[in-house]
Amino acid sequence: MSSFGVKVWCAVVLVVIVGELPMSTDAQASGLDPSFYKNTCPNVHSIVREVIRNVSKTDPRMLGSLIRLHFHDCFVQGCDASILLNDTKTIASEQSAPPNSNSIRGLDVVNKIKTEVEKACPGVVSCADILALAAEISSVLGQGPDWKVPLGRRDSTTANKTLAGLNLPDKASINSAQPDPNLNTTYLQQLRSICPKNGPGNALTNLDSSTPDKFDKNYYSNLQIRKGLLQSDQELFSTPGAETVSIVNKFSSDENAFFEAFKASMIKMGNIGVITGNKGEIRKQCNFVNTQSIELGLGLYNSEDGMGSIFFMENGDGDPYNKGGGDEDRGPCPIETV
Ligand code: HEM
Repeated sequence: MSSFGVKVWCAVVLVVIVGELPMSTDAQASGLDPSFYKNTCPNVHSIVREVIRNVSKTDPRMLGSLIRLHFHDCFVQGCDASILLNDTKTIASEQSAPPNSNSIRGLDVVNKIKTEVEKACPGVVSCADILALAAEISSVLGQGPDWKVPLGRRDSTTANKTLAGLNLPDKASINSAQPDPNLNTTYLQQLRSICPKNGPGNALTNLDSSTPDKFDKNYYSNLQIRKGLLQSDQELFSTPGAETVSIVNKFSSDENAFFEAFKASMIKMGNIGVITGNKGEIRKQCNFVNTQSIELGLGLYNSEDGMGSIFFMENGDGDPYNKGGGDEDRGPCPIETV
């Protein structure tokens, strides 16, 4: 399944929601700077790019997944890599909050990136910055827009599972139990065959039925021909009098306008609640705060296989604390058909 469709739709959300954010999210005010690693890790961008480029050869959906990961990080206590923290005795992982559970992807890829970055510049680049860079690079690799990513975020030492449940869109509450009445009937039939009534509810389908692997404006065109997969997407166009109708029409006819809006919104989103200076930390291993990495004997990267795998050592109670970093595939049918 590929996913640039929702990302495209999400530009509307980004423009509408993130556009309303206060000035403190501006790059200068947040203290971030695209040249932050110029002297300390000059090749960080190309290192991140290389890992993602390789992964996306066999898993093109990963590009969308990584963009979404940055969003799901930023909307819960800021862009601080809190989403990457695994369950431990002191951390309740955001990964198992309903909007993320069985839905977020890319944790393994972030670990692969971190492994490569640590080899080149140990202890310098934060996991939060890796998420921000990965989002931009994924956009470019999907033939979408590029932008200079403001950098210098530090990683949190906490996570907030409750906030993840409150701040992030939960697919269970978004996806309708009934198909959108405005849907194109042929498309509806296709969805019904993919997701039959009383089926197992675990089928996957493209969010963008026209150009699923490409970052483009087609999701808006799809809405105009009533082929929006999620009801909440189709309503952006089909709700009479909604202010989003003109945005859909604009972006559908002018890809450049869409790209510009997306870039500005991604930069703005990337400034939410960042930790800088000497606050927070640069995690050695993205799934654990540094004190726990030491306690658990982590932070050692397996450079042999180059796969970013981590040595997990038991802490004596038989629990290796290896709860995360895995990549669950996406869950249920987005539309339960009748
Ligand atoms: C209120 C805002 C939002 C809602 C309601 C929403 C809803 C959703 C839903 C229901 C899914 C499917 C999840 C699944 O099946 O497991 C999804 C996927 C996705 N969303 Fe959002 N989203 C929102 C905002 C955003 C934003 C701001 C971005 C980008 C910055 C984004 C990027 C994506 C991407 C790329 C995917 C596909 C991920 C993949 O295939 O792994 N979303 N979204």
